[in-house]
Amino acid sequence: MVEETKKITEMILDAAQKAREETSNEPEPELTRPLQWPIQATIGPGLEGAIACESKIGYVNGSKGWLIYRGYDIFDLCAYSTFEEVSYLLLMGKLPTAAELEEFKLKLINYRFLNQTLRMLMSSPVESMNTMSALRLGTLLTRRLITLLDLEDGSPTPADYINSDEDSIPMETAPIGELHAIYEFKHRSDDMDDTEACFHLIAGLSTITAAISRIRQGRMPLEPNPKLSHAANLLYMITGREPTAVEERVMDIALILHADHGMNASTFAAMVVASTLSDIYFSVGAGIAALNGPLHGGANEQVVRTLIEIGDERNVKSWVEKSLASKGKIMGFGHRVYKTYDPRARVLGVLAKHLAETNESIKPLFNTAQALEKEVGTQIGTKKKIFPNVDFFSGIVYSCLGIAPEMFTPIFAVSRVSGWTARVLEYLENNRIFRPRAMYTGEFNKGYIPLDQR
Ligand SMILES: CC(C)(COP(=O)(O)OP(=O)(O)OC[C@H]1O[C@@H](n2cnc3c(N)ncnc32)[C@H](O)[C@@H]1OP(=O)(O)O)[C@@H](O)C(=O)NCCC(=O)NCCS
Repeated sequence: MVEETKKITEMILDAAQKAREETSNEPEPELTRPLQWPIQATIGPGLEGAIACESKIGYVNGSKGWLIYRGYDIFDLCAYSTFEEVSYLLLMGKLPTAAELEEFKLKLINYRFLNQTLRMLMSSPVESMNTMSALRLGTLLTRRLITLLDLEDGSPTPADYINSDEDSIPMETAPIGELHAIYEFKHRSDDMDDTEACFHLIAGLSTITAAISRIRQGRMPLEPNPKLSHAANLLYMITGREPTAVEERVMDIALILHADHGMNASTFAAMVVASTLSDIYFSVGAGIAALNGPLHGGANEQVVRTLIEIGDERNVKSWVEKSLASKGKIMGFGHRVYKTYDPRARVLGVLAKHLAETNESIKPLFNTAQALEKEVGTQIGTKKKIFPNVDFFSGIVYSCLGIAPEMFTPIFAVSRVSGWTARVLEYLENNRIFRPRAMYTGEFNKGYIPLDQR
């Protein structure tokens, strides 16, 4: 097995080499440096081009195809690191020592247990809800256990203790969970600072996502396994089976790849909410809401549906011609920032190929994807600088891992929560409430017309 995961490392390093060769003619970007505020920038609608803050967390370069977290190249992180290490890196600004990593992992193990939250979540119609709305609900339910912000004077009554307890059942029986409940409520609310709450969210989103997946299949959620890594736990809690070393490694890499990506819409949404000095749970809830949109997190689900619709690689040419003739956007291609091959798609592409080779049911889907990549490349790729993006292969990878299409976007959130929380914490160090302007182009001086005269 170690040999097989070693092979994955080699494949990633080869992809990195290919990326360097293909972009070697692109000019080296100027080194970035701290700004002298206020600055001048050319701004388009939707704040395109605006610089809202400085950040040391991550860097994206669209012409070189670079993605960098805290100075480390994404290819190196995929080849050598883990999601736990990368989350620590994004949040704390440096790679952890062995002792720091152990301590961090231990926290994640503890925070993955969300029995009370899951019980509350299961009282909602999760099976018929949009998966992202269920994830947002579950995330905000975890907040109830952590903060005292909902209580007027901040001191809960004994009734509140019982309410916050997963075991608060019939009053005529001895309240066996009461002591435990008081401990949990006080312990978590008093001791937990913002960073700790970020750890809680990073651990918790995976448990909630897996539970949603199980509930939708008519199954009970599974408790996390303290012996497993974050990636392995996620797969285990979804499928009910401990993943192989290869499956765990692939899931880990997919989580690393999606953890941060500049000031994308969901990160910005999370930061806007945080800038009002709301709390990190509301911020992450806002990030989940923004990620739900098909222009942001939903494209990989669409890619898989497109590949199924095309049906066979022989149908690709005519399908592409028809799609381009109707001016349709082909899902999984093109990117607002990358005008070269998306580095995340390079990695996911080789992982998809590796997994599909031994998966008879997914293999035809992958063959169709390869033919589609080639055809789009021939018809518009070079001319319009349209290449596969992160969403093109991720759906195939997740399908090989036994994850249902409607869970793809929640899985994205399970990873991106590290970037959201890291960027929120960083922004809060020099917080300024976000307040852009809109140019009023409406009318003035209109006389009010009474209702019966309109
Ligand atoms: C991501 C996306 C919104 C970027 O849009 P954008 O920044 O406006 O794209 P560009 O300005 O670089 O597009 C350049 C040209 O390529 C075309 N193009 C871009 N993406 C395309 C796609 N996926 N399929 C077909 N044509 C595409 C545009 O229509 C434009 O054509 P034109 O010059 O004739 O008007 C767009 O590529 C898209 O909708 N992709 C599909 C959805 C997707 O995969 N989203 C996930 C992103 S990670």
